[in-house]
Amino acid sequence: MSIFEHADFDGHEGVHFFEDKQIGLKAVIAVHSTRRGPSAGGTRFWSYASSADALTDALRLSKAMSYKNAMADLPLGGGKGVVMKPGGNFDRTDLFKAYGARINLLSGSYITAEDVGMTPDDMKIIRSETPYAAGLDEGPAASGDPSPVTADGVFRGLQVAVSHKLNRSSLKDVKVAVQGLGHVGYNLCKLLHAAGAQLWVADINADRVTQAVNAFNANAVSTDRIHACAVDIFSPCALGGAINASTLPEIKASIIGGAANNQLKSPELGEALQSRGILYCPDYVINAGGIINIAAEVSGTYEKDWVKTKLTGLQSTLKTIFERAQNEGVATNIIADKMAQDRIFGSDLSFGENHT
Ligand code: NAI
Repeated sequence: MSIFEHADFDGHEGVHFFEDKQIGLKAVIAVHSTRRGPSAGGTRFWSYASSADALTDALRLSKAMSYKNAMADLPLGGGKGVVMKPGGNFDRTDLFKAYGARINLLSGSYITAEDVGMTPDDMKIIRSETPYAAGLDEGPAASGDPSPVTADGVFRGLQVAVSHKLNRSSLKDVKVAVQGLGHVGYNLCKLLHAAGAQLWVADINADRVTQAVNAFNANAVSTDRIHACAVDIFSPCALGGAINASTLPEIKASIIGGAANNQLKSPELGEALQSRGILYCPDYVINAGGIINIAAEVSGTYEKDWVKTKLTGLQSTLKTIFERAQNEGVATNIIADKMAQDRIFGSDLSFGENHT
């Protein structure tokens, strides 16, 4: 299959393939757009069944980063790196050193940070080969693990959603089902519990569930029923595709908002949610806290107040999306896409496939 006919190719500015047979490196870096600034987005380190799957992820996630960075009003474009986890034994340091050297070849058109499967230690290794890596634990502008800030952004977004949909001024006694208690999900539970929300939680890792039950008085739910809880908010904080043809009819929450990327298995599901009266917080808007934190590091001076201002901006953007969706009778994900395309491409439709 040619890249140009790939269903997820969207006029990407560059798609780069890197291999180091000796070390076991196989990586794809997709640069979707640098129109607003250097492309930025985390690197995903994952066991892919095929290089075609890795390419699909890189193409989709890099486009989502363009949209996310534009909606957070950051001076950054969108890009994503995907490193295929080698099947056999491998040396993590050698692997990420080789990957860092490849990022350096792109001369700053792509800046990386952590995504699923990556740690600040990996970033340190990458940084030894290239300056185009952020999300570090040490250094003059180091921003560290972005997850707590992502959780803060999701929490703030849910405040706006609750005000819009439920006409409630706080999360006190609001019932929330959180799917996935990892770096973001657990931090989100902490914030929700402190705000007086009642929690239902699920994770494939039983220890995380026990921890949340003990710390937050949460109710444990099985992973295949968490979406169906009779709650006010369903918060997907695990992997993508939580809203799909089989979960949709079972969702009882009136708000969906969480950290996971690509929550809708397909975009049409946004309209299905809208017609069922469910308020969907577009994922790349509500989960932008982490990239905001990273952007502060990329700017060269990490300023907490700047991050806070951007998180407040995320809240007003969500409010605008909800109001426009209501007034125009259009799904929130479609409104968000339109706003993002406008911010990236303006009136120039010559880039990308079909930015209408
Ligand atoms: P993580 O890997 O720390 O946590 C994911 C959690 O989900 C793990 O505890 C895992 O056991 C659990 N999980 C996996 N499959 C599950 C299932 N079927 N049902 C229930 N639980 C399941 O990842 P992290 O960093 O918390 O990110 C969560 C999501 O948010 C990911 O989709 C990530 O791409 C997205 N995201 C994360 C950001 C960050 O700052 N960490 C920023 C923006 C998006």
